[in-house]
Amino acid sequence: MTLHIGALASGRGSNLQAIMDAIDAGKLQAKVVMVVSDRQDAPAMERAASRGIPAVHLPPKEYPDRQSYDRAVADLLQQAGVDTVVLAGYMRLVSAALLARFPGRVLNIHPALLPAFPGLDGQDQAVKYGVRYSGCTVHFVDDGLDTGPIILQAVVPVYQDDTTETLAGRILKEEHKLFPAALQLLAENRLEIKGRRVLIKD
Ligand code: GAR
Repeated sequence: MTLHIGALASGRGSNLQAIMDAIDAGKLQAKVVMVVSDRQDAPAMERAASRGIPAVHLPPKEYPDRQSYDRAVADLLQQAGVDTVVLAGYMRLVSAALLARFPGRVLNIHPALLPAFPGLDGQDQAVKYGVRYSGCTVHFVDDGLDTGPIILQAVVPVYQDDTTETLAGRILKEEHKLFPAALQLLAENRLEIKGRRVLIKD
């Protein structure tokens, strides 16, 4: 099934770019139909617009609470025909108001090996903690902070002379492969959530 992706992005948008590139390369059976950002200046919006993909800025300030903001986001995405929501560097927690509208269809990428180092600055947390390995995780989103069932993970070493930036760069390369790969599994209908575990069907 071709995924109709709605991406939520707050910043640079390199994961969004990797997804669009994988689609162009025939490695991901999907179409990005809309990008929504909470930040007007997010370069992710420009990346989408330059491909003719509608990119909408929705300012959180204009909504009384997280639920009403997420309801507005979900309305926009549903009107555009989105069936899969991708959090591509989205720096807000999503609430049940959005999750309930796309059950089992919201995916996030996180720059650490969850459940280690959830929340902000996963790469910096890893360097400061002193782990020898870190990486990235693609998971289904639930209403916790980076707690949903894990789809795929990739591991990278942490070197003694790593800074947050050098580690983040090493992780980012893996992110750009991992997110499209997880989405392709979803497109092939090969993911089954069983409690906390995600089974990958042959
Ligand atoms: C990525 O490293 C992503 O894993 C991280 O933000 C970066 C966004 O980069 N996401 C989080 O930390 C979510 N908690 P991008 O805008 O270039 O895709």
